[in-house]
Amino acid sequence: MANFPNIERVDARAKVTGAPIYGADRTTPLHALLAVSTVTKGRLAAIDTARARAVPGIRLVATHEDLADLTSPGFLLSGGYGFQSFAPMLSDAIVHRGQPIALLVADTLEAAAEAASLVEAAYVEVPFSSKINSTGATIIPQAQSPLPQQIFRDTIAGDAAGAFGAAATTVDVTFHNPPQHQNPIELVATVAEWDGDDLTIHEGTQNSGALKFGIARMFGIEPDRVTVISPQVGGGFGQKNSLQMQTALVAWAARRLGAPVKMVVPRSQLFGNASFRPESRHRVRLGADAEGRLTAALYDVDAQSSRHDLFPLDYTNPAARLYGIPNFQGFQRIVQTDVQTPGYMRAPFEHMATFALDTAVDEMAAALGRDPVEYRMALDTDRDPVTGLPFSSRFLNACLSRGAEMFGWTGRNPEPRSMRAADGQLVGMGVGCGCYKAATAPAAASLRLDADGRVSVAVGVHEMGQGIRTALANAVAARLGVHPSAVSAVIGDTRGVPQHTTAGSWGTATAVPAVVEAADKLLEELGPDPLAAMARRGLESYETRIERRAPGQPEEPARALHVGRPAPWGPVYGEFVGFSYIAHFAEVLVEPSTCRIRVPRIVSVVDCGQVVSPRTAESQVKGGVVWGIGAALREATEVDERYGGFLNTDIAEYVIPVNADIGRNEVAFINEPDPRISASGVKGLGEVVMTGVAAAIANATWHATGRRLRDLPIRPEHLL
Ligand code: MOS
Repeated sequence: MANFPNIERVDARAKVTGAPIYGADRTTPLHALLAVSTVTKGRLAAIDTARARAVPGIRLVATHEDLADLTSPGFLLSGGYGFQSFAPMLSDAIVHRGQPIALLVADTLEAAAEAASLVEAAYVEVPFSSKINSTGATIIPQAQSPLPQQIFRDTIAGDAAGAFGAAATTVDVTFHNPPQHQNPIELVATVAEWDGDDLTIHEGTQNSGALKFGIARMFGIEPDRVTVISPQVGGGFGQKNSLQMQTALVAWAARRLGAPVKMVVPRSQLFGNASFRPESRHRVRLGADAEGRLTAALYDVDAQSSRHDLFPLDYTNPAARLYGIPNFQGFQRIVQTDVQTPGYMRAPFEHMATFALDTAVDEMAAALGRDPVEYRMALDTDRDPVTGLPFSSRFLNACLSRGAEMFGWTGRNPEPRSMRAADGQLVGMGVGCGCYKAATAPAAASLRLDADGRVSVAVGVHEMGQGIRTALANAVAARLGVHPSAVSAVIGDTRGVPQHTTAGSWGTATAVPAVVEAADKLLEELGPDPLAAMARRGLESYETRIERRAPGQPEEPARALHVGRPAPWGPVYGEFVGFSYIAHFAEVLVEPSTCRIRVPRIVSVVDCGQVVSPRTAESQVKGGVVWGIGAALREATEVDERYGGFLNTDIAEYVIPVNADIGRNEVAFINEPDPRISASGVKGLGEVVMTGVAAAIANATWHATGRRLRDLPIRPEHLL
């Protein structure tokens, strides 16, 4: 199997010297900000903008009375382009706390901020529900909801209830996760500029295609009139996977004022105005037979959505694919509450699904007196329990055995509370496994070779810091026999090839096979020495273009690529089922009087198929592990049911891990290509890396303290 060279990040120097231009790095003469609702539900009774309009330097103050000519972009998961179907400021309706009620544009940011603070609104308020347990929250079994896709039905294999009833040993446990919010360094921001009837949007987005078509829908103009440019995203994590609430407002103001307008949405407003990880509750019942074989799993999930959209749940599909449990029953309910529509946040379902399932499996191993690593390895399977199809590849046991060796698992005393550090802290060692679907999407790619040996590729993918430019350069360079530094990529730009959303960990598995195919086509057309062939023919440059679909993907769904709609395929591919896998081994230290939990060490071994860019892949794993530590021990968006919305809306009070929270993270890759998903052998990495981290930490905390903690984040007060 090929090992790609461990090249530097191709944009490393540019990034550390501040060269790349992010969406809102552009300076414009006009600055926009929003005034937002201070109530959760009802309607605007009156809005007084007189004092805002009197601020020196103010150029535009707009409310719903001015904006009625726009239409909703629709919800991404039901045929639209927006993170939610509700578009603010088109009526007097208030549907969530923090929604925009007025748009302010001024010559300076300070004037816009002052004007925003002077907007006075009166509301008619009605009762609301802000948590999944709140009075008035509406529970809808997903299988009976109007969601059309098959994957959103219940996940069923065999007869789980029957096998659970006949089990010799059972575990019945419930887990909870609060709402959580992404906090990428780059805030959600838009610069909009009109040239006659043509609009250009500069915005850090994972989905320039959806912005193009969504803005066209909102304004009722031809998509050809809209260009979206997003060459660099300062962290996406799902928050930037669709049309944001401010994009059309900024474009509207730019058209009205006849000048470019910029808006950077303050972090405090993002908590009420962008998608987030919904609150969720997870009940797992496991049954094992007299020999300890896991025969049954029943997994029930309730997760939060908004009133206006059903955010489809997909917790049970990954849970059913983590181990070979022959009888599996997954049942999900959507709980409608009065919030903005939640959405995808790194490992959106898989983080909690693997936390719940793998912690329950750890509890079963303990109940049976089995070693947690050995017990997991005994649960391996090469067939997908749900469909009966073979897995395209699955090296979870290799991850477990390699990780156990790297971690020194044999040094673990199996008895809880049995290990102490020299300073008296309790030592815990735990393992956690995770999985994430290996999906891919259709892609177009063009490749141009210049006579000076430079290669330029354009492909449908976005660089969110994950290192896709480096992977593209490494893959193309290997194919064409050039140095990676000779390869540049035009991505996240609707002026090139069609742009599909980069999400769901399908970016590398989608874009790399596309550029490799384009390179192969060039070699086919020009022969093994393309530069010599070009010289013979007197060509300054030569360009070729391909378009490809996921394996087994019919033409019709793939065409969504051309209209900015999602068109991912997999993990069920017809002849096989594809997942990436990971095993994490965590060591925790628990200070016995304060119960402070530290994580000095995590070992992570990943099966993500072929690694194309070793350096950025390792960085992806470390980032995912850091986030997993945050998810396990720190992050919660707090809700006060009296007021609704979210309370701790900045990264001082929304607690994320800092350097002192992070110890050593050793990373290894199985690096076995998965040739069934593509000739490039890539499965996917960005999200599997976060799955299983919380389980490893919770299982290690149990080993340290003897306490099973099932509500995230795990906090010292839970142990006191
Ligand atoms: Mo990811 S949460 O699918 O951007």
